[in-house]
Amino acid sequence: MRNKTVPNSQGPNRPLGIDQTHDQTLVADWEALQRIFLRPEDEGSRQVLLKYMEQILFGLHDFLKHHVGITEEISLKALADRFTDSCINPQPKAKLTDIIQDIIDKIAPHAVNVASPYFIGHMTSAIPFFMVHLQTIVTALNQNPVKLETSKIVSVYERQVLAKLHRLIFNRSEQFYGEFIQHPHCTLGGVVEDGTLANLTALWVARNRCLGPRLHFEGVEKRGLADAYRAWNVDRCVVLVSRLGHYSIRKAGGVLGIGNENVIALPVDGHNRIELDSLKTAISRYHCPGRKSKVVAVVGIAGTTETGTVDPLPEMGRLCAQHQIHFHVDAAWGGPTLLSQRYGHLLHGINQAESVTIDGHKQFYLPMSCGMVLFNDPRHMNSIAYHANYINRPGSVDLGIRSLVGSRAASALVLGHALDVMGADGYALLINHGIETAREFASEIKRRALFELVTAPQLNILTYRLRPPALQKRLASTDKHTRKETMRTLDDINIRLQRLQREAGNSFVSRTTLRLGEQGDAVVLRAVIMNPMTHMDILNAILDEQERIYHEKIKRPFPELS
Ligand SMILES: Cc1ncc(COP(=O)(O)O)c(C=O)c1O
Repeated sequence: MRNKTVPNSQGPNRPLGIDQTHDQTLVADWEALQRIFLRPEDEGSRQVLLKYMEQILFGLHDFLKHHVGITEEISLKALADRFTDSCINPQPKAKLTDIIQDIIDKIAPHAVNVASPYFIGHMTSAIPFFMVHLQTIVTALNQNPVKLETSKIVSVYERQVLAKLHRLIFNRSEQFYGEFIQHPHCTLGGVVEDGTLANLTALWVARNRCLGPRLHFEGVEKRGLADAYRAWNVDRCVVLVSRLGHYSIRKAGGVLGIGNENVIALPVDGHNRIELDSLKTAISRYHCPGRKSKVVAVVGIAGTTETGTVDPLPEMGRLCAQHQIHFHVDAAWGGPTLLSQRYGHLLHGINQAESVTIDGHKQFYLPMSCGMVLFNDPRHMNSIAYHANYINRPGSVDLGIRSLVGSRAASALVLGHALDVMGADGYALLINHGIETAREFASEIKRRALFELVTAPQLNILTYRLRPPALQKRLASTDKHTRKETMRTLDDINIRLQRLQREAGNSFVSRTTLRLGEQGDAVVLRAVIMNPMTHMDILNAILDEQERIYHEKIKRPFPELS
């Protein structure tokens, strides 16, 4: 289409821009619609498009620079009241440029500024600026890796990215990668939406391996669980994981028909790692000859969500090999630690896994979202292969053949090129900074009389709580009731503290509940140090603020603290 002047029924002739306007009235018409799908046809239109991109890149970025914490104070209720319109407007409501400005002015200020270095509460943080560009390319190309016919080069590129992660984790031979990177009949892993789907994929494969085909039985995937239990002479299948396992493992138990109650949460030791004796007992209870049950998988965690700790992977791997159980490692969080020469050893034993989950949108600092699962044996995913006549035909190289998801974004383009921009050493700097800053933060918490470090950081997550000295004495009381009461008071104080700090909007620390040995469950504050801009001055300011909130707003209603 050429840029031209067209007559319209409602007003004077006007040049076509990106939006078709008729005076102030916007109308959806065919010509304007076509322009939305076409490349800009002249320098004028190009400039308009570039202006929009500038607005997006710098309008939003400015906002992120100028606000910290959870942004302007406004209740969720007040925000919800602004969004009560359930009708789709028949005609266009505003021009694109106004829409973008509206998002910058009205939406962005109420979004959470996860990029702030004072935002240390969750696994979502700042991303390098170049990610916006890489993500924009993914959107502009709009490839769909479900099939070769909609992605071509992306299909083979993605396999290379998966191979890089596979080598990082399993470090197989040159010959192995030479044979399997592009082998059309198997795959080293898969890209999915997130860590939840990666864990689900791994356990789906594990279930199919555990209840696979045998004499007169075609396997659980084909025949379903009822037949599988009969054929394998079991009445129960379980998944074993520590009680710090991510809740996506329980979801998988539900989705896969095993039952989420059969995802058995085993106790942890004093360092929040799965108790090996309990694991051994559970394996002999559920997985030994003569039992009418089977262990579908043992899940080790490389970076638990709440405490960032790593399970004893070598011992777990050995146990699983001995009992021929699928060993899955959930390294959604901790996986990229392998890029650090200084701290990669913390994940020692991960190469014994059959499958590993790793998330791009966590410590690879990708935009939301990109989950991945890698399999030690490139044939494992064949047990979940599906075909359809219009795509994914048998023998084709379509990535959708062995995938839980169908259509999806070409996130591997972002990860692969981010690895090129950063290099392993660039990522290692981020990993090292997180771990070392978390350690310094832990020392500072221990130094301050008002705080108690609850779980020391093994990676870059730690938990602590505010514990006034007066209550510390009561916690040591010989009277059980006094101890219990004191724990509840401490919970109350920490819940209020976390809420007041969040509402003040200067900084953000999350909270969770952990079991503290004989003391029982306790509310703790949780810090995740992943933003490279978060340093000790900022962490001290966060602790100072917490002390201030406690003295000014919390202490008074508790007479025992005065
Ligand atoms: C250890 C672990 N596994 C899995 C997940 C699930 O990841 P996602 O939120 O991407 O589904 C998380 C998320 O926090 C996690 O910490």
